[in-house]
Amino acid sequence: MSTPPPQNTGFPHRHLLGIEGLSSTEITLLLDLSDAYVEINRSADKKRNHLSGRTLINLFFETSTRTRTSFELAAKRLGADVINISVSDSAIKKGETLLDTAMTLNAMHADVLVVRHPFSGGVTLLSQKVNCAVINAGDGSHEHPTQALLDAVTIRRRKGRLEGLRVAICGDVAHSRVARSNIHLLNTMGASVRVVGPPTLVPGQIGRLGVEVFHDMRKGIKDCDIVMMLRLQSERMHGAFVPSIREYFHFWGLDYAKLAEAKPDALIMHPGPMNRGVEIDSEVADDMGRSLIREQVEMGVAVRMACLEILTRIRTNGAPVPGPVT
Ligand code: CP
Repeated sequence: MSTPPPQNTGFPHRHLLGIEGLSSTEITLLLDLSDAYVEINRSADKKRNHLSGRTLINLFFETSTRTRTSFELAAKRLGADVINISVSDSAIKKGETLLDTAMTLNAMHADVLVVRHPFSGGVTLLSQKVNCAVINAGDGSHEHPTQALLDAVTIRRRKGRLEGLRVAICGDVAHSRVARSNIHLLNTMGASVRVVGPPTLVPGQIGRLGVEVFHDMRKGIKDCDIVMMLRLQSERMHGAFVPSIREYFHFWGLDYAKLAEAKPDALIMHPGPMNRGVEIDSEVADDMGRSLIREQVEMGVAVRMACLEILTRIRTNGAPVPGPVT
């Protein structure tokens, strides 16, 4: 579709398909707006009308708790109508293709499609066939842009900055769209990124993304400000990548003994869903002083409100929507 991207919003993109390619200015715009929404979400009156009259469709070809729910909540708080399409109940089960499904929804004049798909590039392909805004809610092992944005808001609120921080992304990097989006975002914002994991779960060429690679957990998280754990994504694994769960936890699971190598004020993150006792010890995950996991979920709603506002800040006739952000 040749519909031009929105103008005069500070975010000259029609869709949010990935973090790769966004400038630090564009990322900062989204983070600042998210911060404003955090405060609104903590107040009694959480409703705004920026998306009044608009329709958002959640189209998830993979399971989700956090992302799907927070997009629904975000859109409703902004006044939009929301439809959730469950793939198991849709015509996709009868053999309809991804693109035919997209064009069908497009014909119903949706304003935003939020799409999660198991294939890397699947959401980008879909975005080329519709004239509404498309947000990538995770495509294969490629990108999960709103996760990286919510992680960045969480870190920035706690540490006051992203620039100069040392962040270790640990575990199943090979199958992780969260890792890729975070690497792009943190590098763009001036953080120093390490990836830490066994050779079977860290792609050989990952260094090209501008990260340091460690195959020893203790060395990898040494003196880090943030330790970000990743889930073992068995749904994307074909074959055995780890000898056993017990052995994986012994070498790669985050417990207090390993965490002692990080800075004394290092904070712990996990995008969820967590496998307790696999990639993270339960006590560490629930450590209210150091674990940001619940805060990440809270930030998810604010970030998605910001993304929805930015991508719909233009009327269908092409004129920017006036008025304040909050
Ligand atoms: N982090 C994340 O994407 O979680 P869900 O799979 O629950 O959406």
